[in-house]
Parts: sequence; C-alpha cells; structure tokens
Amino acid sequence: MKYPDHIDLPPLLSARGTARLPGSKSISNRILLLSALSHGTTEIHDLLHSDDTDVMLNGLRTLGVSIEALGGHSYRVHGCAGGFPVKEAGLFLGNAGTAFRPLTAALALSGGCYRLSGVPRMHERPIGDLVDALRRLGADIRYLGTEGFPPLEIYPASLSSGGRIMVRGDVSSQFLSSLLMALPLLPGATIVGVEGELISKPYIDITLAMMARFGVQVARDGWSSFTVPAGSRYTAPGMVHVEGDASSASYFLAAGAIGGGPVRVEGVGHDSIQGDVRFVEALRQMGAHITMGPNWIEASAPESGRLQGIDLDCNHIPDAAMTLAVCALFADGVTTLRNIASWRVKETDRIDAMAAELRKFGAKVEDGADFLSVSFPCATAAVSRPPVIDTYDDHRMAMCFSLAAFGQTGVRIKDPQCVAKTFPDYFECLARVVKAVPVIAIDGPSASGKGTVAQRVAEALGFHYLDSGALYRMLSLAARQQGIALDREDQLADLAGCMEIRFEGADSWLDDVRVTDELRSEESAVDASVVALLPAVRAVLLEKQRAFRRKPGLVADGRDMASVVFPDAALKIFLTASAEIRAERRYKQLIEKGMNANISNLLKSIRERDERDSQRSVAPMQQVSGAVLLDTSSLTVAQAVQEVLARYHSMSEMPG
Ligand code: DC
Repeated sequence: MKYPDHIDLPPLLSARGTARLPGSKSISNRILLLSALSHGTTEIHDLLHSDDTDVMLNGLRTLGVSIEALGGHSYRVHGCAGGFPVKEAGLFLGNAGTAFRPLTAALALSGGCYRLSGVPRMHERPIGDLVDALRRLGADIRYLGTEGFPPLEIYPASLSSGGRIMVRGDVSSQFLSSLLMALPLLPGATIVGVEGELISKPYIDITLAMMARFGVQVARDGWSSFTVPAGSRYTAPGMVHVEGDASSASYFLAAGAIGGGPVRVEGVGHDSIQGDVRFVEALRQMGAHITMGPNWIEASAPESGRLQGIDLDCNHIPDAAMTLAVCALFADGVTTLRNIASWRVKETDRIDAMAAELRKFGAKVEDGADFLSVSFPCATAAVSRPPVIDTYDDHRMAMCFSLAAFGQTGVRIKDPQCVAKTFPDYFECLARVVKAVPVIAIDGPSASGKGTVAQRVAEALGFHYLDSGALYRMLSLAARQQGIALDREDQLADLAGCMEIRFEGADSWLDDVRVTDELRSEESAVDASVVALLPAVRAVLLEKQRAFRRKPGLVADGRDMASVVFPDAALKIFLTASAEIRAERRYKQLIEKGMNANISNLLKSIRERDERDSQRSVAPMQQVSGAVLLDTSSLTVAQAVQEVLARYHSMSEMPG
C-alpha cells in the first residue's frame, strides 16, 4: 500500500506543465494476451504497471507462458503458439474486466480445466452474453455462483471448427473483443454477428488494430458482423510499444482546461488508436483550447476562463466521459452525458456513484438508466469544507474527483490506493502539473509581531489572513462563558467543533457576538495556551484552520502553521524576537489600549508560554526545516514585512 486511507488535496489554483502518460491499460492487456497466443517472441515496451496488468501477467504465467521482465516497462513474452501449456489451473483475476473476459474466451477454446474468479464486484459484473456465444461454439462453461456472472469453471469440450455465432454488443464491448481475440484458436472461419446496438465501438477498433499487428486480419461488415478467416494464427511482431493511456490523459487535459494550462500530455495524440482521444472534442466543445501532435495533446482554459455545459452522446468515450461530469462543476449551464448505460456495469455503478459524489459539492444532478445531467447552479451552493469523496474501489472515481480540488475548498479522496488499477503514480503526476492555493506560514512565539507582519503581508498580496491563535483564544473564551474547565478535553473539543467563528477586518466574532477586545486580553492568551495542549482540540481546529485556504492565497500565523496545518506552505517563516523585547512590545500594546500591564509580569508570562508552547507533545512550536528564521528584535514592522515579501517574490520567480 503506497497511499494512506485518504488523501487531502488542497484547493488548487492553477495547472500548467507536462505529464508523461503511463501505458494504456486496454492496449497493454490485449498485447500481453496476443503475445502469449502467438508463434514467436514479442518484446513489449512501455507496458503499463498496474493492478490490472499484474492480473494479466500473473494469469498468463500461471497458464505456463514464459514472460521475462527486462527492467523498466519492458517485457519479453515467449508465445505458446495457440494452446496454453498448463491445462489445469485456478485463476484469481481481481476486478480486471480486461483480463477476465478475454481469458474466459481464450481458455474456453483451449481444451483445459480452468476456474476463474475475482473480487466480489467482479462477481456482480455480467459475463453471460460472452458465455452464451462461446457455448454456441461448443465450449463447456459452468457458473459457480449466479447464472450469468463469475466465478466460472471451464472444461475441455468438443469445439466446432468455426461457423457463425451471435454475441450481444449492448452491455459490454469486451464480449465481442474477447471473442474476436480468441477465435484464431479455432481452425475454421468464424463469423460473429452483433445483436443489439454495439456500444463503445472505439474499443473494438483497438482490438482489430492489435489483432492486425499480430498478423490476424478481421474482415468487418459495418459494426454488425466480423469475420475471422480460416487458418488465422497470431505471429509475434517482434517488438511493440504501448501507447499512453488516453483515458488517463483526460484528467490532465481537464486540469489544463479548468486550471488555466497549458497542460500537455505525452504518449497519445492524433495518431492514437484509442477512442478516448476523442475526449478532446468534448473538451473543445466545452470551450477549452486544444492543440495536438502525433503523440501529444495540450489543453488550456477558454479565453473567457469558464467552460460551458454541453449535451453529448458519450457512447464512444465511456471512460473519459466520467471526467466531463466533474468538469461540469466548473462549467456554466447544464452538462448532460447521454448513452452511458455501460457505466452501470463497470468497476462500480458509475452513474449512481458519480451522482452521489457530485451532490456533495452542491451540484444539481439528475440521473437515469443511461444518462447523467449536472449543473452547478450558483457560487452560493458551494460547500464550506472539503467534501469527502467515496471512491467505490473505482480508480476513475478517485482520479476524476481529484479535479474537484480546483473548487473553493479542496477535497478529501478516500481510498486513493484504488488508482493502482491503472495509474499507480497518479497523485504524484498530478502534483507535478498543479499549483495549490499558496500559503505563507508565519510561526513564532507570543508577541513576536507575527500577527501584524502576517496581516500586512496578506494586505500587500491581496491574500486572506488567518490568525490561528485567535481560534484558541476564542475557544478559551467560549469555555469560560459556558463554565467548562480548561482541562475537559472532550467537552472542549465539542465546543471547538460547534463554535461559529468569523473575522471581519480587525474584528472577530464568536457565535455572532463581537469579541475583538476580549480576545486581546492577556488572560485569554494564557488560557489559549492551556487549551492548545489538548490533542482533541487541536484535531478539531485543524479542519477549521485549513478552511481559510482560499484563492488567491493565505497568510497564516501561529505556532504550527508550517509543521502541521499547512506543511505544504509555499513559504515558511519563523518569526521571533528576544523575550525582553517581546514583553516590551506587549506592554506598549496593552497600555495604548488602556489596559493594565506590568512589564516583569508580562516577561514571566511570555517565558512560561514559550515553554508550554514549545515543550508540549502535540504540535510544539518549532522552526521546521525549510523555514526561514526572521529575528525582528532590531527590525521595524515595515522592514519585517519587506523581508517576507522579498522572500515570497524571489520564490515565486523560481522555475518549477
Ligand atoms: O498567537 P497567540 O498568542 O494568539 O496564541 C495564543 C495561544 O494559542 C498560544 O500560546 C498557543 C496557542 N496556539 C497554538 O497552539 N497554535 C497556534 N497555531 C496558534 C496559537
């Protein structure tokens, strides 16, 4: 497991750069199977490394196919010229439809005893139409669970030498693809007629192109009948390169279209054989600016900055169309995706899943048997905290919804590990082309001047400002008002969760009452450093603090801004001054406000707080590595502000 149980994507500001795509899943698994069935040896380059290709590689190895890993993404497959050497085996094929369906067909025509099973979701995905077609050729296939669904058992049978069979094309195009790839195992010619409207036609094109590459020419009569000639046999092409994955390209192109761009993907382009490259037509229709070369595509946002809703038949781009549904969150008007009934039998019921998750953003969603319609009525529908996205063990749900981080709040993706099905490094690749809403973290001890400096830096940059200490002060104030002792961790954490906090200019509001002056008292500062010791309180306030990260940027001051709350801050400053100077500054501040003050008491109190803040076990005050130390003992406020701004500007100018 590479990723934790969830990943928090911060709100994203922009996207720009180049992503090198991993190999196509559809092409990788087809090439592996055809190499295994071939006469001769095939060297495969740029093969996708993922759960689904591992399933196919392991399956073929179990069947006795010799496959050498050549390092990197290269493999050498020694073809077994038609029949698999191992005649009796059990294969566990996870949730890989691109392995399960083609292996079912190939093994049914191979004359052995095989048992094929997968994860529970695989056992809910239909396979009956493929089994029916194979049975018409004489294959002996039995269902071990529910009729029409895996797991399956296959037995040797007397197969017909060819002939004419029908297969349904309106549930999954993988049934036809699987059948076509297996048919050269029979000696005679076979004509496959398609019953019902064939869906996802571009995937059939990939199948035919791959079969041709391995020496088998399928004759096609429109989309209704396909003939595999007598005596067809697969011949290793020597060396093959796997194209980049066009479905995976959709996330990066959408990032460019939403986040400014240009974002370029390398590995697919107008020479691609994958139907999902036509996703760019849909994105262009939404207003994105698209340019293409033979093996690259680039996308930028529309000149107006906003995408437009579209109404589109997506039958030809079933996988990439999911990305359009998330683009709809950033489009004016309604986006309707039609003719997508196949979504219901994929890794999860993708229409239901997509509708449920889009609604978490306040989107208006309508869905039916074969369509999805999404609009994002107005900015006020926007949520105030990051939606938590369920991913249903579906890699595309996780990847699609990462794009939602271009909204106000960022997003939490649950079970991000599911991307390993087709794109194990997805989140790292995405991080390389996106820029998060920048945070300048200014940490330091009490009365170091960090609040004033942070506020002025925010003003100069037009950024939002967070005084995180005020949250702890507010909590201690609220606790005092409600008579809650400062060591009652659970009660304080509950209180922290439900207090309504608002900052307006120099004023602070707690549950709609102005508390600006109360917050500044020395007493609330001391109490704050006591409630700040409690881990449960800090955990609740963490989320509230992160919610302040909004476009175009945030300056946040406190003790753990750089270490805990915004560890990815663009600039980290540790602002300090000697305790004596801080006590003096605080004294002046209090006297100016007409409050009582005694300098030696203040010095004592500051030293005690420094000690408590830096010695506590959770989120202690510290200068984290990478933070710039700024001692303001002999600096004016203006000089300190200039210093921070200069560092920020020099950093923003740095490449990358
Ligand atoms: O910054 P301040 O003096 O207003 O903070 C008051 C107390 O709140 C401080 O003594 C410790 C606590 N605090 C914290 O623990 N973490 C923060 N990010 C900010 C303040």
